[in-house]
Amino acid sequence: MRKKVIAANWKMYKTPHQAKEFVDSFLPHAWGHTRDEIVICPPFVCIPATAEAAQGSGIAIGGQDLYWEQEGAYTSAISAHMLMAAGCTHVIIGHSERRQYFSETDDTVNRKLKRALSAGLKPIVCVGEVIQEREAGLTDEVLRRQCGIAFRDISGGEAIPIIMAYEPVWAIGTGKTATPEMAGEAHAVIRAEAAKAFGEGVATQIRILYGGSVKPDNAKALMSQPEIDGALVGGASLDPKSFAAIVKY
Ligand code: PGA
Repeated sequence: MRKKVIAANWKMYKTPHQAKEFVDSFLPHAWGHTRDEIVICPPFVCIPATAEAAQGSGIAIGGQDLYWEQEGAYTSAISAHMLMAAGCTHVIIGHSERRQYFSETDDTVNRKLKRALSAGLKPIVCVGEVIQEREAGLTDEVLRRQCGIAFRDISGGEAIPIIMAYEPVWAIGTGKTATPEMAGEAHAVIRAEAAKAFGEGVATQIRILYGGSVKPDNAKALMSQPEIDGALVGGASLDPKSFAAIVKY
């Protein structure tokens, strides 16, 4: 049985003070919750406040991005070891908003993924098609390309901590969700690519999350799909009650 991961992606929301307020009111719902792994990915400047407030609760903290170099003259970039020093164990890589607004490519996703793995961060790697690709019947091809390049030069032994997130871009922040069947098909394509790159044994251990308008009222239906190993939640993770309801799907 793969343990499910319920991850909050706060995107560009909340100050350190608001992050602490969130954790203080979310924690009573999360104490003793061992069925799933809970991860919160705040903006960089909120990581220390979130990590401190969540200390001892079992809630993991993740960055929303990283740069692949260790250090250097890379203005605004954040490295793996900086994230870890601030309290992170996880990092989101290749979110569609990074791809769309910040020129992230399949190749930079691969570099970041390799760096996260070698540093010991658990990567949450996002893939997914835009609406035009789905309508043109290209979903499988897009997922195969995104995964194929992301997984380059990574051995099966290194790949076990990888968490994938299938996030159809047309479902992010739109209130539309993929049907369980659509998600099931996409997850199967991603797992097949993982099997090709890392072998069956490793591929069956990799968690594949669904993301895109996950809400308290659809979390149960999505999470009861055997192929869906958790959720990456944007908008509905900003409110502690709503995120708690998702965690307790
Ligand atoms: P959403 O975002 O839940 O607001 O659709 C999901 C994501 O972008 O990770």
